[in-house]
This record gives sequence, structure tokens and C-alpha cells, in this order.
Amino acid sequence: MNPILAIYPGSFDPVTNGHLDLIERGAKIFDRLVVAILQNAEKSPLFTLSERIEMLREVTRPFSNVEVDSFRGLLVEYARRRGARVLLRGIRAVSDYEFELQMAMMNRKIESGLETVFMLPAAEYSFLSSRLVREIAQLGGSVAGLVPPAIEDRLRTKVS
Ligand code: PNS
Repeated sequence: MNPILAIYPGSFDPVTNGHLDLIERGAKIFDRLVVAILQNAEKSPLFTLSERIEMLREVTRPFSNVEVDSFRGLLVEYARRRGARVLLRGIRAVSDYEFELQMAMMNRKIESGLETVFMLPAAEYSFLSSRLVREIAQLGGSVAGLVPPAIEDRLRTKVS
């Protein structure tokens, strides 16, 4: 059986403890896991693409089979280029399911050989999102325990 390469795509603006929890779970199951950051010209992210790459590389350093990369355009095209067989996505609550199902089915329609695998983060992260982390940090609240300590420092500097 060939090694299984999985792609964990997202915006990661910034990476949270919920993302990291999923990366850890994914890294245990798949032979290689590529965390792929979407380069989206339309969105105006808080952190630049290179900052997000740097932050993700820093926090995923302990995982020897995890790589950080970025992509633009269609996710399935990127997955094909990388030779991936799996797309990994996290589902926190029922509310995530509808959109995730739509994306997974659409990706399957375009590329039937690619499987989307959903994993659940630890229950303590089921309420966590990058959007809320950004909002709390921008309004001067504490994000301790929501993001890795290195990201907490970056957020503080970014919004100060
Ligand atoms: O962290 P996010 O914003 O929930 O991640 C969304 C992401 C990057 C997985 C999604 O927007 C995506 O795959 N974008 C790439 C463009 C694409 O392939 N669109 C068709 C999806 S069916």
C-alpha cells in the first residue's frame, strides 16, 4: 500500500489550538500531512501569507511528518499536483456540517479519487475559530489557551 498523503487546507488566520489539535490527530493517522494555506487575493487577512506560513511552521515543528505549504486556485488541482489521496477537514459542530458537506461533495464531483475525511477536534476547542480569536485580540481580550503561546505574542504585537 502506498503511503497516504493528506492535505489539511484552510486560511489559518491565525492557527488556533483547535487547528493544532486536528494536525496532531491527522499526523497520527496519515503518513504525511500537508497543511496548505489558501492564498486568497479577495480576503484581507490579519496576517500575511508569509506570516501564516512562518507561524504554522513554528507550531508544527514537533511533527516530523507534517509540512506547511500554500496554494492558490482550486484545492483539488493542488491536491492532484501533490499526489494527495485525502483532504482533511475539521468539524466542530453541526453548524459546520452543511458547508463542509457541500464543499466535500463538490470536490468529489471534480475529482472523484480524492476522499474528504472529517475529524473532530477535542471538545474544549469545539467553540474556537480564527475569526473569534482575531476579534478578541483586536478588542484587547486575552486569547490565552485558545492559540499556542507563540501565536499569542504575534497577535499582541499585530494588534498593538
Ligand atoms: O479555513 P477555511 O477558510 O474554512 O478554508 C476554506 C478552504 C480553503 C478549504 C476553501 O475555501 C477552499 O478549498 N478554497 C480553495 C478554492 C476551491 O477549491 N474552491 C472550491 C471548493 S468546493
